Amino acid sequence: MIEFSEEQKLAISKAQETFSKIKEDADLLNDKQLDLLFGQARSMNGWKDQDVSNEILYSLYELTKMGPTSTNSCPARFVFIKSDEMKEKIKPALLPNNVDKCMTAPVITIIGYDLDFSDHMGKLFPHMDVAPMYKGNSDMNFATAFRNSSLQGAYLMVVARALGLDCGPMSGFNNELVDEQFFSGTNIKSNFLCCLGYGDPSKIFFRLPRFDFDEVCKIV
Ligand SMILES: Cc1cc2nc3c(=O)[nH]c(=O)nc-3n(C[C@H](O)[C@H](O)[C@H](O)COP(=O)(O)O)c2cc1C
Repeated sequence: MIEFSEEQKLAISKAQETFSKIKEDADLLNDKQLDLLFGQARSMNGWKDQDVSNEILYSLYELTKMGPTSTNSCPARFVFIKSDEMKEKIKPALLPNNVDKCMTAPVITIIGYDLDFSDHMGKLFPHMDVAPMYKGNSDMNFATAFRNSSLQGAYLMVVARALGLDCGPMSGFNNELVDEQFFSGTNIKSNFLCCLGYGDPSKIFFRLPRFDFDEVCKIV
């Protein structure tokens, strides 16, 4: 049983109050908004010549960081590449098919995971000492870092769409090369890339099929 301090108890009741209030007052997303996030949202292959401001990247992170991760581990690390110099640095790591799509994007995001994420558990999960659970089990450490950074990358894409941006996710690149160029001297590894910008509709392909509910879901 966890013993909470008075300060923590106060923070718990405040959080409960905030959550109840937001659920009472909030409207559900309408169909158009759901289409922007998922229903009609598309992966991008080309981009309009329109800058993505640093401000929108800050806003993007502020919401992305609130997505849930196990033991609040927040293992994802994000590098937003905007400069031509850094784009040239990542270029040799890209599969040929992905070069144009990436190099014309206003932003190439590297979504990485920090294998030393548990060094921060004192800040992120202060009411329980969970760091040894990760430090003592490298399989669990990797699975937690990889799983949760993938989730955080997905949160980033959904938030980006909610903020009016478009996304071009990519795993067709040489991870070792990206790690060497961008994360040397750290224990951070690249997971996937996500180009961000304002999509060029003329570069969109036909929509690929998805599974129907009965093909992949069960209610038991
Ligand atoms: C993790 C991940 C990796 C991907 N890698 C690539 C890639 O290397 N190159 C590419 O052109 N598209 C890549 N895609 C895009 C997918 O092909 C695309 O999201 C999928 O076909 C669905 O397209 P839609 O969102 O337009 O329906 C990737 C998507 C994800 C989520």
